[in-house]
Amino acid sequence: MSTVVLAYSGGLDTSVAIRWIKEKYDLDVIALTIDVGNERDLQAISARAAQIGAVKSLVVDGRADFTRYFVWPALQAGALYEGVYPLATALARPLIARLLVEVARAEGAVAVAHGCTGKGNDQVRFDVSINTLAPDLKIIAPVREWSMTRDNEIAYAAEHNIPIQATNASPYSTDQNLWGRSIECGILEDPWAEPPEEVYAWTSNPDTNDAKEPTYLEIAFQNGIPVSLNGEEMEGHELVETLNRLAGDYGIGRIDHVENRLVGIKSREIYEAPAATVLLAAHKALESLTLSREQLRFKEIVANEYARLIYDGQWYSALHQDLAAYVQSTQRFVSGDVRIKLGRGKCSIVGRKSDNSLYNLGLATYDSGDQFDHNAALGFIKLWGLPLSTQAQAQLLPSIGFEGNLLKQAETKM
Ligand code: ARG
Repeated sequence: MSTVVLAYSGGLDTSVAIRWIKEKYDLDVIALTIDVGNERDLQAISARAAQIGAVKSLVVDGRADFTRYFVWPALQAGALYEGVYPLATALARPLIARLLVEVARAEGAVAVAHGCTGKGNDQVRFDVSINTLAPDLKIIAPVREWSMTRDNEIAYAAEHNIPIQATNASPYSTDQNLWGRSIECGILEDPWAEPPEEVYAWTSNPDTNDAKEPTYLEIAFQNGIPVSLNGEEMEGHELVETLNRLAGDYGIGRIDHVENRLVGIKSREIYEAPAATVLLAAHKALESLTLSREQLRFKEIVANEYARLIYDGQWYSALHQDLAAYVQSTQRFVSGDVRIKLGRGKCSIVGRKSDNSLYNLGLATYDSGDQFDHNAALGFIKLWGLPLSTQAQAQLLPSIGFEGNLLKQAETKM
């Protein structure tokens, strides 16, 4: 019989999908569960897939590849969608798509399947990636195809003896990997409502947790990639997971975002991204020391485009390759150390150093030892301002002034 490879998370949707695909398409289902650093019991999840009726149930540890090929490039780019969202969910989709395709090839499957709804960005990210990598594979998206409400699904599960977890009773829809946790639905759909404390799982409440003494961290970067934490070298995913715990304890990395989805909807999303928040801030601090003003300015433009293309599901595109090459080039001197202070709900950069630093004390100091040529500033100012004063004399003076006379107005008010 023909087979389909299903990206299986262990949640209600994909659990029901195992049975539903079998009934609707008469395909054997291979369940593929990918560890992208979401600290759940994946062996148990995988066993559940088999119990529900998957002919095969695979678990792949994708943490190292996810960190190296997806998270680090996004960090090096400084990618934040709409300036706030570190893109955890969006970054994992192209990796999952690629693994679905690889397993489908290895197993000779005719189709792949995922549990995305028809309203979100994730279906676009999956489908576009899969169609790009393997246009011959059929894509089945049960949740987009069936018309079951959540309650219908629960009833379907009961009817077919599909075990469902207690977490499925939660009103929230969540997704998580080592770069962050995304939460939506329930009361969060009211953008005026403050998120209840129960939506958070990785961050303690910064307002009520026992007053914590601030703590200091040191992170070393090599070409824009964090390589050690407090002097201890670690694998990338280990470093991120450790930071998630450390910064999460301080309530760092809560993000409340009304975002613009690719499919035209505004949606209210809560994110928890302790490690991403700290690392993006630290990386930026090191860049401020090692990149020129012009590089920083241009890179900001690239960062926005890079974030947008990740969000929009264009990972496997030429534009991505081009921007990634630019970003890599910018990172060749971004090596050094950053000191960070963690306090309740916030992380502050308190120190940075690099062998490639462009900071020159002789030029910067106001104390003795000043090497800056103050006289040269006069000539610089004259030429820098020349076009402005020329144009002002010729065209602008009448429109540049204030109405009336500021000094007079100030005097009469006394
Ligand atoms: N809005 C985010 C994105 O499109 C997160 C979606 C997460 N999905 C979820 N089930 N909460 O990247």
